[in-house]
Amino acid sequence: MGLTALCPGTFDPVTNGHLDIIGRASQTFETVVVAALENPSKQAMFTLEERVAMLKEACSGMSNVTVVSFRGLLVDLARSQEGDAAIVKGLRAVSDYEYEIQMAQMNHRLAGVETLFMPTSPKWSFLSSSLVKEVAQLGGNVSGLVPDHVRTALDDRLEER
Ligand code: PNS
Repeated sequence: MGLTALCPGTFDPVTNGHLDIIGRASQTFETVVVAALENPSKQAMFTLEERVAMLKEACSGMSNVTVVSFRGLLVDLARSQEGDAAIVKGLRAVSDYEYEIQMAQMNHRLAGVETLFMPTSPKWSFLSSSLVKEVAQLGGNVSGLVPDHVRTALDDRLEER
């Protein structure tokens, strides 16, 4: 059995940048598990269940990708996978590296789980869920940055407020 790529994130909401990494991971690894988790340092706009539903729709065309939610330590999810799993994360810039290397080293220290970094496509290097939410909240157009169903969900959530 080949290596499983575990693609974790807050995904609040999933962007086309995330999907670029997930899609490339699905071509590189036998199996990809996309995991939506809580990031204790972020206040989410969407519930974990809503984020998973959006991810499932976005990944429905990728046959070796499954989407799960998880509350707890990422390494516990990694260790619960059948066979070997490595965390795969996209890196946009040096600023991402500083945050990601710390988590990668902690995850290795906690459970010997490896992290592999995949460079983000330059097409999406400016893109983040936080910026998408900020732009949408201020009335900007986020089409082309997130899948259409995510744009609709953003519009609906902002209308509720
Ligand atoms: O998309 P993000 O916010 O960069 O993803 C961060 C995430 C969710 C992967 C990270 O916060 C995480 O792993 N959360 C689960 C709890 C955990 O394991 N914390 C210790 C990280 S070393």
